[in-house]
Amino acid sequence: VGSEDAAYLVSLIRSVPGFPKEGIIFRDFMPVLADPRGLDILLRALEAALPVPANSFDAVAGLESRGFLFGPSLAHHLGKGFIAIRKAGKLPPETIGESYDLEYGTASVEIETSAVKPGERVLIVDDLIATGGTAKAGADLIEKAGGAIAGFSFVMGLEGLDGLDKLGDVPTSTLISMP
Ligand code: PRP
Ligand code: ADE
Repeated sequence: VGSEDAAYLVSLIRSVPGFPKEGIIFRDFMPVLADPRGLDILLRALEAALPVPANSFDAVAGLESRGFLFGPSLAHHLGKGFIAIRKAGKLPPETIGESYDLEYGTASVEIETSAVKPGERVLIVDDLIATGGTAKAGADLIEKAGGAIAGFSFVMGLEGLDGLDKLGDVPTSTLISMP
């Protein structure tokens, strides 16, 4: 996408100091989704910035909740299916789970054991990487379920939290870097 589109995308992100806790600046990308031009730029930018070529993965996996908001659209654009990595307690058996720490709490995610085909190469998507705990837990689940991580695509990356370091050597793309 061009620099005008990139600037427009950034302008739609709402920053909310003190939410959900003091000391956090919440980076809200919902206004991007609400804006037809913003949504179009977002999907084109994610596709243009894929960390690996589209033919080197088989499926897109998204992290609940915000990874569900654009993951299926991106998967559809790319001609892939979508795998849901859910917050704990939502999926019927059989599931596998992982717990992790967040910038503002702890959480657990789960996946259905049969959601990943043996050896399937998966691109993981989410709106934002902060500490990297969520993305790492999602990647561990995909691997435990028999898949391989091809890469990670994030809309935003928070600086200074070393989130990407948690993800090891896997190719990653982040559209917008924010303090
Ligand atoms: C947010 C965000 C990422 C995660 C990033 O989700 O959407 O999934 O935090 O943080 P991390 O890199 O420190 O793990 P949140 O858990 O707030 O849930 P939500 O998507 O349901 O709002
Ligand atoms: N997830 C973790 N940290 C966040 C932040 N600062 N804004 C939005 N989502 C987040």
